Amino acid sequence: MEKINNEYLIHSALDAIHDGIVITDETSRIVYANPAYTRILGVRLDKILNRKVSEIEPTASLLTVLKTGKPILQERTRVDSLNMDIVSTITPIYKNGEIKGTVAIFKNVTEAMELTRALQRMEGLAHYLQEELEKTKELPHSFDEIVGRNHNFVESLTLAARAAASDTNVMIRGENGVGKEVIAKAIHAASNVCRGPMIRVNCSAIPENLLESELFGYEEGAFTGARKGGKVGKFELAQDGTLFLDEVGDMSLLMQSKLLRVIQEKEFERVGGTRPIKVNVRIISATNRNLEQMVREGIFREDLYYRLNVVPIFVPPLRERKDDLLLLIEHFLSQQKEKTGKAYHISEDVMQIFYNHDWPGNIRELQNVVEYSTVMCTGEVIQPEHLPPYFSAVKRDPQSVERILSANHQQQEQEDCDIPSPEQVPRLKDRVAEVERETIIMALRAARYNKTEAMKLLGISRKSFYRKLKELDIET
Ligand SMILES: Nc1ncnc2c1ncn2[C@@H]1O[C@H](COP(=O)(O)OP(=O)(O)OP(=O)(O)O)[C@@H](O)[C@H]1O
Ligand SMILES: [Mg+2]
Repeated sequence: MEKINNEYLIHSALDAIHDGIVITDETSRIVYANPAYTRILGVRLDKILNRKVSEIEPTASLLTVLKTGKPILQERTRVDSLNMDIVSTITPIYKNGEIKGTVAIFKNVTEAMELTRALQRMEGLAHYLQEELEKTKELPHSFDEIVGRNHNFVESLTLAARAAASDTNVMIRGENGVGKEVIAKAIHAASNVCRGPMIRVNCSAIPENLLESELFGYEEGAFTGARKGGKVGKFELAQDGTLFLDEVGDMSLLMQSKLLRVIQEKEFERVGGTRPIKVNVRIISATNRNLEQMVREGIFREDLYYRLNVVPIFVPPLRERKDDLLLLIEHFLSQQKEKTGKAYHISEDVMQIFYNHDWPGNIRELQNVVEYSTVMCTGEVIQPEHLPPYFSAVKRDPQSVERILSANHQQQEQEDCDIPSPEQVPRLKDRVAEVERETIIMALRAARYNKTEAMKLLGISRKSFYRKLKELDIET
């Protein structure tokens, strides 16, 4: 009774397991298959029970196990007809050293495999995207001339390089002399329209009544004083290229609305003309003014702002990237050298002054100061007295130099400091004698001036010990 109960329990347990289980005898006849097996493999129990695997599936791994007597562990099979991935483990059953049958366990791993495959695809995609990203990190050659390694500055350049590849309108923001135009040129040179011209319009330098004809040109006889044959405007000149609207924040509201119309309609007429001219130009604009504030105050059109400001690029002022000072100075000094053939260096005092200066005129100011000082300097090293007079008010504070340098140049500075001067190098003989003397005295003290003990500590013979005492003039 007990035995029957146990068999019932074992049978029910096998039936309840979620992995497929098949038991065969030594002739491969299926003596048991649980419901999970029939479910996983999509077969009916009455179709397989008591039948031999060798007849149902002559290539089954189970037959190999019966033949070799060795188990097959975790074998993965793809059952294409069922669109299923299965992992099977087939173990021989022995009695008294003889094979009596096999038990096979089948796990449906389709879902896990699908996840694995999806993961592999994602990994491949991530790898591809990473590679693409690495590529964009490298700036186009047109950016080579732009000096600077400051983190924020390089980020702005990276954004500019990305924007260059698209046709979107770019707005370059930054104080006077930070290099807005330099960046605009690099963007144009790296863009799809690089073969076309880049035409600059300084919107602040042109009186409002002239700006319109400057931008759009005019027909002959458009107004009194109009040139014979009319005039081609900057928009036409920039056809298939870039129109660089410098100081766009200084444009009058009237001009702003005319500009907006052209951008929206992609065509315009010359002043005094009726023939519409199609425009195909990429617009890069630049300003040092707070456009958002101007929009709030109603002196800059919001709609134009959004049209021009598709990709805003902020260029940091020099006082926020003083870690680039040395690099920039070297750049401008080598430019001077090309011009004059003379090499100059900057003294430590001048560097201190430079690090303490706020540079309101940014890179342009630095460029001018370097040029000025090379003109004033008769020797090779530029000293504080060679700087423009307004620098006499800038204080010298060696510590601030260190503070600023610590960001980027610390390592290089450190290396420079580590290089000893020739006078610092001792003669080897003297140095060795010094070390020997110190060591012998140390040994003597440790041995409480017992000489035999001291020579033992030093690991030298009695003879050499006494010779050293004499040579080094050590009293005992
Ligand atoms: N990163 C840089 N590397 C080398 N030279 C630079 C860099 N930035 C600016 N310059 C130089 O500094 C000067 C000023 O640059 P640029 O005219 O582009 O500034 P800007 O922002 O347009 O100034 P502004 O607002 O006055 O128009 C130029 O002579 C330019 O060559
Ligand atoms: Mg400029």
